[in-house]
Amino acid sequence: MAAGSDGALPADAASRAQELREQLEAHNSSYYVLDAPTVLDAEYDRLFGELQALEGRYPELLTVDSPTQRVGGKVLDALQPVTHRVPMLSIQTETDIEDSGAVNFDNRVRKELGLAEEAPPVEYTAELKFDGLAISLRYEQGVLVQAATRGDGATGEDVTTNVRTIRVIPLRLHQRAGAPAVPDTLEVRGEIYIDRRDFESLNAAQQAASEKLFVNPRNAAAGCIRQLDSRIAARRPLSFFAYGMGESTGWALPATHCGMLDAFAAWGLPVNTDRAVVSGAQGLIDYHRRIGEARNRLPFDIDGVVYKVNSLALQQQLGFRSREPRWAVAHKYPAQEELTEVLDIEVQVGRTGAITPVARLKPVFVGGVTVTNATLHNEDEVRRKDIHIGDTVVVRRAGDVIPEVVRALAERRPADARAFVMPQTCPSCGAAVRRDEDEAVARCTAGLYCPAQRKQALLHFASRRALDIDGLGEKIVDQLVDNSILRTPADLFRLEVPALAALERMGDKAAANLVQAIGQCRDTTLARFIYALGIRNVGESTARDLAAHFRDINVLMAADELRLQQVTDVGPVVAQSVAAFFADAHNRAVISDLLAAGIHFAPIAEPEQLAPGVAGKTFVLTGTLPTLSRDEAKARIEAKGGKVSGSVSKKTHYVVAGGEAGSKLVKAQDLGVAILDEAALMVLLESM
Ligand code: IVH
Repeated sequence: MAAGSDGALPADAASRAQELREQLEAHNSSYYVLDAPTVLDAEYDRLFGELQALEGRYPELLTVDSPTQRVGGKVLDALQPVTHRVPMLSIQTETDIEDSGAVNFDNRVRKELGLAEEAPPVEYTAELKFDGLAISLRYEQGVLVQAATRGDGATGEDVTTNVRTIRVIPLRLHQRAGAPAVPDTLEVRGEIYIDRRDFESLNAAQQAASEKLFVNPRNAAAGCIRQLDSRIAARRPLSFFAYGMGESTGWALPATHCGMLDAFAAWGLPVNTDRAVVSGAQGLIDYHRRIGEARNRLPFDIDGVVYKVNSLALQQQLGFRSREPRWAVAHKYPAQEELTEVLDIEVQVGRTGAITPVARLKPVFVGGVTVTNATLHNEDEVRRKDIHIGDTVVVRRAGDVIPEVVRALAERRPADARAFVMPQTCPSCGAAVRRDEDEAVARCTAGLYCPAQRKQALLHFASRRALDIDGLGEKIVDQLVDNSILRTPADLFRLEVPALAALERMGDKAAANLVQAIGQCRDTTLARFIYALGIRNVGESTARDLAAHFRDINVLMAADELRLQQVTDVGPVVAQSVAAFFADAHNRAVISDLLAAGIHFAPIAEPEQLAPGVAGKTFVLTGTLPTLSRDEAKARIEAKGGKVSGSVSKKTHYVVAGGEAGSKLVKAQDLGVAILDEAALMVLLESM
């Protein structure tokens, strides 16, 4: 029977879905919030798959707080404005002159409260000041219904779909025994941020895909959360800490700010544990110092600490001055910046030929390390920051983040300072350098004939996520390429121990190990191999998609741009790069040489069985389906051997109609074409 299409919904399906949602969210919270996994990944995936299947079969079971909503899906045209019911305020900053920040704040609070000198110290909550993006999460009856950015404080932007993909944010507040009852409505205010390590991996992935690098974790968090495509946001490592409250109704407010944060934590919201309740100005000073010392050890960036009067009644009594509360203040740390000199600006040639200017700096100790180089990204960046050779510049480094030249001090520019000139020819091979009009990056045009590009391409080929050849490092590749022993990756498989052992820093043992490692990398996967080729715009995940779709390197090599665009997440730009790569005779020769050298791919799982009701049939999709996006529905139909067409004709077998379906539905009715809703489509797809 066409389940769902006649409205019949078995009661056990509903209760099972509810049970699965609760289990999955509990596992999620243990894993992401408490850092203590309670289930194996495979088991989690199984439960998740079961819930997805249930929701697919009975779309009416799908709820906004379902963990399946965390993968993203909707692509928006624009972010919609949201008026904050309680404005999102900013906070006054105390400038950092010794301990005066804390003392001034405490004095002001005592004066405003009319406390006599001998009155006991005021109690404060001291917290970290996270360096991310302020966000307001609205929960109604415990369910996350809206997330909005701060905007101008009065009106922000609706970023709900993106925020739902953040694993640490509960989609439904937990009601635990002993914890206060979850309020009817609750707006949680807090900060979305990215861990420094996650930030680095994100930028490494951006670089591998030849995409724009984020300047710092804060910009990355802001960029990710304002994404229009929530599937992209879902892949970004965003995190969150709650620190305050907007509107709330239907609960007994605790007496203190700290009590409020404890309630948040009990409901499953992430609250940072470095908060402390302290007494008077001295308590604030001690906290400021303690956190200042621990700052570099924190896994995320902070730019200061925040002091808040702990009693909510006193907070109310103190009230606001213009747009800032009188009961809170930010006490910043001096930025981790130093001055140094630009000794030179050189250029580096990357794997895809990108020519990157790099500032050689007079060594300077900043943020805990000595910095001698800093990338300047591209020519426009050098111009924008107006950096000359000989300039005194501000260098910033926060924790583990790549050092950055913030700006030049024009007033200190020496008379003999020189402007940077992008070379017209490649410093490695002498070929022409070209910069396309719509590109920020200038590139060497010699491709793999350029030794610098060849070295980078070989290092990429051998890298851990590609063919993973242990022991093939930069120093060795440099020598092998410079001595013309290594020209293409296929040459790796012809290397012999004596030739390797003759290199600098190589003994017989290391040479034998390397030859063995190269031999072992022959057994790989198609996805790794595609990634290893270093095709522009093809990162690891695109390589996986291409492998899953084509399953055979020869089929992939023969695919034209249109066929390539049928692959999940492959658009015109990627399709063009891939087609151009495989059209190149040199690349084709290297690949056939590699295959001849014995590269072997692990078998890929069989494709899904073709569904008899779908294979060979033509479908037209119209309107908005309750759970599947257009692309997903199309992919599922195609995976089962069906075709999806854009217009309805007599040859159309099925029209799949969702909400607000228009003329195509009318035409289907006129022509007597079978009309399916999403549930009926699912049944058809699952029929064997
Ligand atoms: S409280 C009414 N607490 O700093 C007080 N803000 O202007 C509202 N921030 O953009 C802010 N960590 O996003 C507060 N522990 C913390 C914070 C914090 C970071 C950010 C906040 C806002 C800015 C304050």
